[in-house]
Parts: sequence; C-alpha cells; structure tokens
Amino acid sequence: MIQTSMVNPKISHRPTIFYRPIQPSDLEILEQIHIDVFPIRYESEFFQNVVNGRDIVSWAAVDRSRPNGRSDELIGFVTARIVMAKDSEITDLLRYDSSKEDQTLVYILTLGVVDAYRNLGIASALIHEVIKYASSIPVCRAVYLHVISYNNPAIHLYKKMSFKCMRRLLGFYLINGQHYDSYLFVYYVNGNRSPCSPIVLLTFFVTCIKTGLKSVAAKLRKNEEKMVKWPKCKETRGLIPIQNKRMIKTECSGCEYV
Ligand SMILES: CC(C)(COP(=O)(O)OP(=O)(O)OC[C@H]1O[C@@H](n2cnc3c(N)ncnc32)[C@H](O)[C@@H]1OP(=O)(O)O)[C@@H](O)C(=O)NCCC(=O)NCCS
Repeated sequence: MIQTSMVNPKISHRPTIFYRPIQPSDLEILEQIHIDVFPIRYESEFFQNVVNGRDIVSWAAVDRSRPNGRSDELIGFVTARIVMAKDSEITDLLRYDSSKEDQTLVYILTLGVVDAYRNLGIASALIHEVIKYASSIPVCRAVYLHVISYNNPAIHLYKKMSFKCMRRLLGFYLINGQHYDSYLFVYYVNGNRSPCSPIVLLTFFVTCIKTGLKSVAAKLRKNEEKMVKWPKCKETRGLIPIQNKRMIKTECSGCEYV
C-alpha cells in the first residue's frame, strides 16, 4: 500500500509512505527506534521474533522518497500477536462462548513512528492494517492493547480510531522503579461487541433512573414554570470503580481520562 502524504516541515521532501511486513534486514533500525521511542527496553529475543515472524505479525512503514539510500529504512512499525481469547485477560469483555474454544484476539505489542514523520497519519494506517488483518480471521473477536496513562498522543489516536477504553489498570507498568497506570483499549471486529456485564447493566440502570427523574422533573417544571423558576442542575459523569481480586481495576465508562 502506498500513501503520499502532505509535506512535513521536519522533512525536506514530500514523503511517499509504503507499508510492508518487517523483515530480518530491519533488525538494527527496529531495535534503535524502540530504544528511541519507548521508556522500556525490550529483549533481543523479542526483536528476533518480530523480524522472523515467529508468533508475531508486523507491518513496517518506509518512505520511498527518502534520499541517501534510505528509501527502505523503517520510519514506523506495529507489532502484534494472536492470543487465544480463553487465555486472555479480557475474556470478561467478550461475549465469550466457551463452546467455541478456537476464538482469538489480536494484541498490539508495540507501535511507533519516528519523530520527523509524526502526525502524517502513519500510525493510523498501521493500526488500520492490524484491524484489517484481525477482521480477516473469522474466529477473531477483537484487537486490544495497553497504553500508559500519560501518553496523550497515543490515547488520542486510539480514541480517534474508535477503540473503546474499557479499563484503567492501576500500577500496570513498572518503569525505573515507579508504577504507572495503563488504559486497556479494545476494538471489536467481525460484528462482536462488549457483553452486558454487571457494570454495563448498572450504568444503564442508573442512566434510566436519571433520565426518568429528568423527564418527571421536566413535566413538573412545565406545570410549575409560571410559578417557580427552577435552578439548572449541573450533570456529573462518574466512573464506577470495581475492585478485582487479582488487580485493582477501574472500568472506564465513556472513557473520562484523569
Ligand atoms: C503515538 C504515535 C504512534 C502516533 O503516531 P503518528 O503517526 O503521529 O499518528 P497519526 O499521524 O496517525 O495520528 C496522530 C494523531 O495524534 C494527534 N496528536 C499528536 N500529538 C498529540 C498530542 N501531544 N496530544 C494529543 N494528540 C496528539 C494528532 O493531531 C493526530 O490526530 P488528528 O489526526 O486528529 O490530528 C507516535 O506519536 C509515537 O510513535 N509515539 C511514541 C511511541 C508511542 O507512544 N507508541 C504508542 C504506545 S501505546
């Protein structure tokens, strides 16, 4: 797939972005970009698995117009792994049918674009490739990923691409001795959607009560408008926290970031 992007002030030419699988010759630059863009270090086994396609699917972005013999050098990548739905941490977020043991998910491991090529839609195109791939697997239910809670560009991107923020995982990442929360984002494929979990039902119930109360209030207001001027009620949206035995999690309703 080729995509000619708009001019970026950080690069002196008009890029011609091309997407292809990651291959063994990408090893060195793949490692280097991971070092440059992520706060955590990945083991060399991970990179070996990526470039050799061992249990990992990947897409690379290169700029065919890049001068100085760099027209096939990575400028962006996404890596992902197929996981069995039954073994995943998001079974409760699927309408999981235990009679269908073969259901799968695609988990995005890493995604990055080198600084000079950002905001050209490259990461969006890479994620789109992952979604297309997941959708082509009939037994695949969803694409999911974790993102550190302060990574606003990535959070903005996933929201823009219609991923749903399903959870906040407290202290999920440990970086240089410090814990950071993560958000869990899910994109359902092949007509799947999240189940009506107790939390979803509770939220629905609360919304109904609120709506019911509002319509009663509206009727009362209509009747009494001539006599009394009602003060406007400021609506608040709240997150409903759930304590989990394994890990403290917060369901992310409508994704209000804190
Ligand atoms: C996150 C990342 C992959 C995005 O790559 P990209 O190619 O620039 O993404 P795209 O061009 O497809 O989309 C970028 C969107 O983010 C927005 N954005 C960029 N910087 C932003 C910021 N600081 N805050 C909020 N949104 C931001 C852009 O405006 C654009 O949205 P728009 O289309 O609505 O304008 C890239 O910034 C990156 O490599 N970051 C470091 C590694 C990383 O964080 N990976 C994700 C780990 S989960």
